[in-house]
Amino acid sequence: MALEHRHMSERSIAPPNIEKRFELEESYRIGKEGVETVGLRLVVDNDKAGEMVVKVRADKSTLFIDEIQIERKYRRKGFGTQLLRHAEDIAKGCRLTRVELRPFATDESSMSTPLLRQWYSKIGYTGTRNSMYKPC
Ligand SMILES: CC(C)(COP(=O)(O)OP(=O)(O)OC[C@H]1O[C@@H](n2cnc3c(N)ncnc32)[C@H](O)[C@@H]1OP(=O)(O)O)[C@@H](O)C(=O)NCCC(=O)NCCS
Repeated sequence: MALEHRHMSERSIAPPNIEKRFELEESYRIGKEGVETVGLRLVVDNDKAGEMVVKVRADKSTLFIDEIQIERKYRRKGFGTQLLRHAEDIAKGCRLTRVELRPFATDESSMSTPLLRQWYSKIGYTGTRNSMYKPC
């Protein structure tokens, strides 16, 4: 299975409060032992603003978000939500049935793990303390 994604630079899917030019580009792709992993880099005005790593196993129907991170100065502008939406688009495009992640904050300075779980819930993710998912 090839994880396909289209460039995320169209104005129509930009966060509503963002006027700057931004793009989501592929930074790497690894296929190993039946698992395909794709690293995506969010670039705003030529500045690295964040990244997301997604992976899928050849025999599974779930897109797994391994990592999602927005640089501090770009947080709370809607980019994180856009990355999640993009992951859902990738999953749908590849006929996968859900997106899954482990809801643990890797930088508690702006969002603690409980806040992070609330944020995912608001976007439609459900599950347990260790694993949350959204059907798509
Ligand atoms: C989690 C993360 C990717 C979110 O990215 P983001 O671009 O800030 O997300 P958005 O702007 O789309 O949404 C942020 C929402 O989270 C909530 N939130 C964030 N910080 C908050 C705070 N201190 N208090 C209350 N709510 C908060 C709010 O609902 C906020 O939306 P609002 O600004 O419209 O009120 C970002 O905080 C991050 O990189 N954290 C460090 C890495 C990490 O922990 N990743 C998760 C691994 S599972």
